[in-house]
Amino acid sequence: MERTLIIAKPDAVQRGLVGEIILRLERKGLKLIGLKMMSLDSALLQAHYSEHLEKPFYAGLENFMKSSPVVVMAWEGFECVGSVRTIVGATNPRQAEAGTIRGDLAIGAGRNLIHASDSKKSGEEEVSRFFTDTELFDYEKSEYMHVYEAHERT
Ligand code: RTP
Ligand code: MG
Repeated sequence: MERTLIIAKPDAVQRGLVGEIILRLERKGLKLIGLKMMSLDSALLQAHYSEHLEKPFYAGLENFMKSSPVVVMAWEGFECVGSVRTIVGATNPRQAEAGTIRGDLAIGAGRNLIHASDSKKSGEEEVSRFFTDTELFDYEKSEYMHVYEAHERT
């Protein structure tokens, strides 16, 4: 099963939208395997956003991500990285489709509520970056037979 890292960013925490984000991912049928609140520091953000370090928006992005605690989550599911990106919506909330988290709940480009891993590889790397092994949970989800066909839940 794929894993994806979700960060409910400072705007989600400040606006009281953490529960809404969790609700939407839970209703999809995904399995929550890790969850914690934390304050992000420069070193962790520079590793997490390494592809953006040289971009003009990076300094503002780092400051914003340090402006309040965030809630980080690890979710698991069959091909879940792409499914979650669909639920999250386009980076710019003004271009995100209605029905997506960003399309429904955000409007400012740098205040888009949520981070979601963008590939299977980055999902694995990012979950490992933010969670230790003991913070991740391996358990049976009893509803899986009603969420997936057999070949999807192996
Ligand atoms: P994320 O990594 O946060 O899930 O978002 P994303 O994949 O949709 O967007 P990405 O291109 O990876 O950008 C990371 C975050 O940087 C901020 N950003 N600002 N001002 C800008 O042009 C700009 N571009 C990106 C956003 O907060 C974006 O989520
Ligand atoms: Mg990204």
